[in-house]
Amino acid sequence: MANASWVLTPTVPHLNKMKISPLISIFRSGFYSPDGISKRVSCASAVQGVDKLSPSESQPTRLVGKGCKLVGCGSAVPTLQVSNDDLSKIVDTNDEWISVRTGIRNRRVLTGKDRMTGLAVEAAEKALEMAEVDPNDVDLVLLCTSTPDDLFGSAPQIQAALGCKGNPLAFDITAACSGFVLGLVSASCYIRAGGFKNVLVIGADALSRYVDWTDRGTCILFGDAAGAVLVQACESEEDGLFGFDLHSDGEGNRHLNASIKENETDGSFGSNSSALGFPPKGSSYSFVQMNGKEVFRFACRVVPQSIEIALEKAGMTRSSIDWLLLHQANQRILDGVATRLEIPTDRVISNLANYGNTSAASIPLALDEAVRSGKIKSGQTIATAGFGAGLTWGSAIIRWN
Ligand code: ACO
Repeated sequence: MANASWVLTPTVPHLNKMKISPLISIFRSGFYSPDGISKRVSCASAVQGVDKLSPSESQPTRLVGKGCKLVGCGSAVPTLQVSNDDLSKIVDTNDEWISVRTGIRNRRVLTGKDRMTGLAVEAAEKALEMAEVDPNDVDLVLLCTSTPDDLFGSAPQIQAALGCKGNPLAFDITAACSGFVLGLVSASCYIRAGGFKNVLVIGADALSRYVDWTDRGTCILFGDAAGAVLVQACESEEDGLFGFDLHSDGEGNRHLNASIKENETDGSFGSNSSALGFPPKGSSYSFVQMNGKEVFRFACRVVPQSIEIALEKAGMTRSSIDWLLLHQANQRILDGVATRLEIPTDRVISNLANYGNTSAASIPLALDEAVRSGKIKSGQTIATAGFGAGLTWGSAIIRWN
């Protein structure tokens, strides 16, 4: 297996008048390479019937990096702060209940014409500045979000707003509060197996737009934010992603979702449309529906297990962890996981008192604050884990810078 190489020639049917003849040559990927030799992956497809891209316009074939590390971070939050007391004016709740049960005191909420992508761009710019990487040198933008401004994905808008002139690939990853960890691992795969050099991983969400502000069981939890990291290819000795573990369980979807629903009325085709069931009615999404107790139990059970597995894959033990950086959902979950892993409270990163649960943004937002305040230092090891809707969960053992 170690020296294997493949030439795949899958059959692709005619697509309108264009005939596509893919030719994908894969020479041993950079994963788990004992010798650390630089590997090469090249993919090409010949498309007849459209203008051929010149080599300078297409993605260059790149040498595969052997390691990847986090070299920059940034974050952004909306200006409007909403306190627990503010919420007690719109739902039957109070500061004591919210802070004792969750640890949350304030959250930030997008208002007016402000958009999630605006926050994401600001966070990404700060990460690029810290990394001293020009937007034109970004090879890939991964936007981890469940609340894109565009149903078809918002990552390309961010790529454009950043001014990445080389048209690097940009796409969304949807995995709710686990999104950022999935993005981080995806970035490492693109770097190790695809030869990408600079990958921007952004976690950004605006769940305030999908929360029922009359439901005290959910509206007290969420806030809006964005966080970003720049993951860069490096030599294997500098590798900063030591191990990871990722999972999904669609059976648990009933405990946490914001499902598609058919709009009740759509008068454009009169009564004929409902008789035929065609054309379909317009659709939208329901508010966030959550069985808090079940999600709480799920998180306390799976997160310590996942971190243990990631540590084992990394060949490390709990004592190697400098910081525990979990998705910021509930202080009681953070405390419970830390207790299970026997990690002292002063090594647990927590900022949810100020921002609430910001979904895919919570980990990079907390990372950015901890790095800029000098808490997390270069070379330190972080155990990070995300969990949430899907259900999805996962963890990664990483080194900062
Ligand atoms: N204010 C006052 N009382 C409240 C409130 C509120 N905001 N919300 C619920 N209550 C009441 C309930 O009605 C109930 O009253 P009762 O005993 O008279 O029936 C009582 O408080 C207890 O309610 P529970 O729902 O049992 O409270 P619980 O201790 O489970 O806390 C919470 C609820 C905070 C939501 C908790 O379950 C939790 O944090 N769950 C995890 C959520 C999470 O982590 N989500 C992460 C993923 S998010 C994503 O992926 C998008």
